[in-house]
Amino acid sequence: MSGEFDGAYQRALTAREEFWAEAAQGIDWDQPWENVLDESNPPFYRWFSGGMLNTCYNALDRHVENGRADQNALIYDSPMTDQIVKYTYQELRDQVALFAGALANEGVGKGDRVVIYMPMIPEAVIAMLACARLGAVHSVVFGGFAANELAVRIDDAKPKVIVSASCGLEPGRLVEYKPLLEGALDQSTHKPGRSIIFQRDALQCPLGENDLDWNDAIAGAEPHDCVSVAATDPLYILYTSGTTGQPKGVVRDNGGHAVALNWSMGAIYNVKAGDVYWAASDIGWVVGHSYIVYGPLLAGATTIFYEGKPVGTPDAGAFWRVIADHKVTTLFTAPTAFRAIKREDPAGKLVSQYDISHFEALFLAGERSDPDTLTWAEKHLGVPVIDHWWQTETGWSICANCLGIEELPVKHGSPTKPVPGWDLRVLDEGGNEVGSGDIGALVVKLPLPPGTLLTLWNADQRFQDAYLKEFPGYYQTADAGYIDEDGYVFVMARTDDIINTAGHRLSTGAMEEVLAAHPDVAECAVIGVADELKGQVPLGFLVLNAGVNRPNGEIVDEVVVMVRDNIGPVASFKIATVVQRLPKTRSGKVLRGTMQKIADSEPYNMPATIDDPVILEEITDALKSIGYAES
Ligand code: COA
Ligand code: AMP
Repeated sequence: MSGEFDGAYQRALTAREEFWAEAAQGIDWDQPWENVLDESNPPFYRWFSGGMLNTCYNALDRHVENGRADQNALIYDSPMTDQIVKYTYQELRDQVALFAGALANEGVGKGDRVVIYMPMIPEAVIAMLACARLGAVHSVVFGGFAANELAVRIDDAKPKVIVSASCGLEPGRLVEYKPLLEGALDQSTHKPGRSIIFQRDALQCPLGENDLDWNDAIAGAEPHDCVSVAATDPLYILYTSGTTGQPKGVVRDNGGHAVALNWSMGAIYNVKAGDVYWAASDIGWVVGHSYIVYGPLLAGATTIFYEGKPVGTPDAGAFWRVIADHKVTTLFTAPTAFRAIKREDPAGKLVSQYDISHFEALFLAGERSDPDTLTWAEKHLGVPVIDHWWQTETGWSICANCLGIEELPVKHGSPTKPVPGWDLRVLDEGGNEVGSGDIGALVVKLPLPPGTLLTLWNADQRFQDAYLKEFPGYYQTADAGYIDEDGYVFVMARTDDIINTAGHRLSTGAMEEVLAAHPDVAECAVIGVADELKGQVPLGFLVLNAGVNRPNGEIVDEVVVMVRDNIGPVASFKIATVVQRLPKTRSGKVLRGTMQKIADSEPYNMPATIDDPVILEEITDALKSIGYAES
C-alpha cells in the first residue's frame, strides 16, 4: 500500500474540508453542520459550525444502542488497591447518566464549569463524561499538584461544583485530597457552592457543610439525558504550564474534538471498535483526556484505566501483566515509564513471563524518545515502537507514524512525519522557511486541524500573543527541530522555559517565582538538567541577599519544601545550589540558555560565546558540587 500515507496527507491539505467532512461521518450529529471550517473570524477558526451533537452520547449511548451494550467500555485495573473492575458500555452509560443527574441537582447545566480533582479512579471518568452529557465544561486538575495550583485554576475557571475524592494512593504514601482542597478553597477568591466527595475505602474524610458525599449525591438523582450542544461549544478546559505561575487554560470544543479523536484512533493507532487500548497516563494530563477517556470510547474500544506505576506495583512486569490479562493490543505511554522498566529489568526477563502475543504496537510521547529506550522496547516486545509528538494545546498528534493508514519505516529519534491535517514548517528567526536538515522553530500553518485549542479560557489576547504573534499566520509550537530530506521530523528542544520531567510538563519560570519568594533569596534561576530516569529534572540556582549568614544547606532545604508545597510533588524539585552571581546580559537579563548549555556540555566546557570566565567557572563548580555528574 505504498503511497497511501502521502495520498492522505496531500488530500488533507488540498481538499481540507472534504477530508474532515468525511471523517465527521464517524460521529453522530443531532444537527448537521453548516460550515466544515468557519473562517469568518480569523485567527479564531471554528470547525463544524452550525452542527449540534453531544460528546457523551457519541462516547457511550450510541455504542449501547448499536450492539456494544455488553462490551467492556472501561477496565479499572488498580494494583494500588488490588482491584479489577469492569464496566460495560451499558453500565458506564447508566452511571454517567445518574451522576449527570446529581450534578444537575446542584444546578450544573450547559456552559457551567466543574473542576474535577481526583485520583485515578473510575469516578473521575464518570464525572468527566457526566459534564459532557450536560454540556457543562470540565476542568480536571492533576492530583500531584499542590493546593496553590488548584486555587489558581479554581479562580480562573470559576466552577459551580468541584468533584473530588478522599484520597489518592501513591506507592508507600496516601495523599489526602480533602486538606489540599480546603487549602485551595481558603486561597481562592471564587468559592464554588458545592464539593462532591467520593469516599475511598482507604480513607474516609470528614465532610463540611458545603460537601456532599458522592453516594448521597447519586442516591437523590435521576438519570439525565444528553443535552445537545453546538459543535463549537467548549467541552473542557485543561490548564497547562505557561511561562509564569499563571497556567494556560486550553479550551477544547465538542465537534472538532470528537471528529479528530475518533479519526485518530483508526488512522494513527490502528484501533477499531472492540479492541482493547491502554494509555498509561493520568486523567490530569492531555494524554488522559484524549486517550484514556475520549478517543477509545468514541471509537467503541475498551479503555484500560490503570492506577499504578510501571515499576514497583508490584514489579517491573506490571505492564506486561496488564497487557496479558486484558488482551491489550495497543499501549501508549511516556518514554520515562520504559526507562523505569528497563532500569529494573535490563535483560527484559519479565516480558517473557507473560503471553503478549496479541500485542500490536507501542506508542510513546510526552518527551523525546531516546534511541536506547526505543531499541530496548523493540527488542523485547517485538512490535512497532512509535514515537509521536504532540502537546496539550494540539490535543492529538502533530507527527506520528500513522499505522492505520500506512506503516512507514521508523527512524530512531524522529516522531516520523506530520499527520494529515498538519501543515508543519520550520522557520528561522526572521520567519523564513529553512532548508531540510536545518534547525528552526517548528510551526504549523493556520488554520489548525479540528480538535486543537480554540483559545485560552478568558484570555483570547494571551492565546494570540503566546501562539500566533511571533510568526504571523502560523501556530508556534515552542519546540525547535528540523525536517530531514525524507520529510521526517526531529523535535530537538523547547524554545521557552518548559521542561519535561517524567513526561510531566513543568515551567521553570513558575518554580523561579516560588524560589524568589524565599526571604533570603535575592535572585534565582531554574534550568532543566538531564536525568537518567525522568529525562530532565529541575535544578535551582540561588543568589542570596547580602548579609545572609545561615548555612546554605538550610536555605536549599527550605526552597525544596516551598516548591513541593506551592507547585506539588510532581515538580520533582529536589536540587538547588547557592552561587555568588548569575550570568547576565548587559541589560541584566539572566542567561538561562547559557547556564543550560553549560549543564548540557560534557564536561562543562565553556561555550565560546560566553565572555565571563569567572561566572562560568562558578556555575560549573556549582554543578559539580551538587554531584551533577558529567555523564
Ligand atoms: N498525586 C499525588 N502525587 C503524585 C501523583 C499524583 N497523581 N503523581 C505523582 N505524584 C508524586 C510522586 O509520588 C512523587 O512524589 P515523591 O517526590 O514523594 O516521590 C512525585 O510526584 C514525582 O512524581 P513522578 O515524577 O511521576 O515520579 P515517580 O517516581 O512517582 O514515578 C515514573 C516515575 C517514571 C514511574 C512515572 O512518572 C511514570 O509512570 N511516568 C510515565 C507515565 C506518565 O504519567 N506520563 C505522563 C503523561 S504521558
Ligand atoms: P504536553 O503539553 O505536556 O503534552 O507537553 C508537550 C511538549 O512535550 C512538547 O511541546 C514537546 O516539547 C514535548 N514532547 C511531547 N512529545 C514529544 C516527542 N515525541 N518528542 C519530543 N518532544 C515531545
